[in-house]
Amino acid sequence: AKKPVSITITGAGGQIGYALLFRIASGAMLGPDTPVRLNLLEIPQGLRAAEGAALELQDSAFPLLSHVEVTDDPAVAFGGANLALLVGARPRTAGMERADLLQANGGIFGPQGRAINDHAADDIRVVVVGNPANTNALIAASNAPDVPRDRFTALTRLDHNRALGQLSVAVDSPVGDLRGVTIWGNHSATQFPDVAHATAGGDSVPALLAGRLGGPEGARSWLVDEFIPRVAKRGAEIIEVRGSSSVASAASAAIDHVHDWVLGTADRGWTSAGLWSEGAYGVPEGVICSFPAVAEGGTWRVVEGLEIDLFARHRIDASVAELVEEREAVRSLGLI
Ligand code: NAI
Repeated sequence: AKKPVSITITGAGGQIGYALLFRIASGAMLGPDTPVRLNLLEIPQGLRAAEGAALELQDSAFPLLSHVEVTDDPAVAFGGANLALLVGARPRTAGMERADLLQANGGIFGPQGRAINDHAADDIRVVVVGNPANTNALIAASNAPDVPRDRFTALTRLDHNRALGQLSVAVDSPVGDLRGVTIWGNHSATQFPDVAHATAGGDSVPALLAGRLGGPEGARSWLVDEFIPRVAKRGAEIIEVRGSSSVASAASAAIDHVHDWVLGTADRGWTSAGLWSEGAYGVPEGVICSFPAVAEGGTWRVVEGLEIDLFARHRIDASVAELVEEREAVRSLGLI
């Protein structure tokens, strides 16, 4: 039988954790032939919730689930890990300054990065879900000097999927027929959802939008006034309507991200992922930035050579400037 893949989920007792565990155990993330072993990391206050989820995993009798471990010790949780989904984070509370938020998250992602460095398997791959995801991923990567930088990623797939959902309605096309959408930059309100290169069933999305919205000007105003802000602020809209933050969609996006990373994006074209910048598209090296990306053989690769017009350039630069500011802030706090 195939050796189980060892997967660490932090914040496993929280909402996204609860939505993730059952889909991972069912085979949705790594496919129907790969057994999984789950290591659930929580802080002491969250242990009972994680233990309860572990009981329910047992009750689900998933044939692919070989073992579940619940712990509050990062050394145990990351021991031998092949994959890690870092979900647990310190949320921003009322009156909290950005420096306090970054400091608190540095206290989580610094030690977790070190534990990954010291205890994870050589092929460890990490996706950070907990916000601020890009900078938390940077903190973890910086504290894991023995792990290749490109093994640390931040989740922007939810933003990507949100963009697909909106476009699907706007051009009346199934999401599965959409290609060439990109989320650039930070997983924050400054992100740039870009459809300049997008196609629906092979047809140019900008042309389809122009056809439906009275020409290129109409398409441009829809993108600037409706689409971009709606995607970038979708999290707030979900809170407003649902009375609680995005949970199942966030878990689903994390599953998609790891699925594609491990199994490849193949002929589905590119997706979006927060990756360690090597300087592509003028993004400074060493920030974790969302790019158009394909995966093959367990490695993400930035899709290069896309034409970036002036409008896109300004939007990308603004979000990247925010990433650079966050990096300077965590650097001055001594977190990286
Ligand atoms: P939650 O509050 O329900 O769960 C978080 C869990 O993490 C709690 O059980 C808490 O005890 C645990 N935790 C806190 N510190 C920990 C540590 N040091 N080690 C292990 N566990 C720890 O929150 P929810 O809804 O599950 O969201 C989790 C994170 O995901 C938040 O930071 C949220 O902002 C973020 N998020 C990111 C999205 C993205 O697209 N990147 C989308 C939606 C949410």
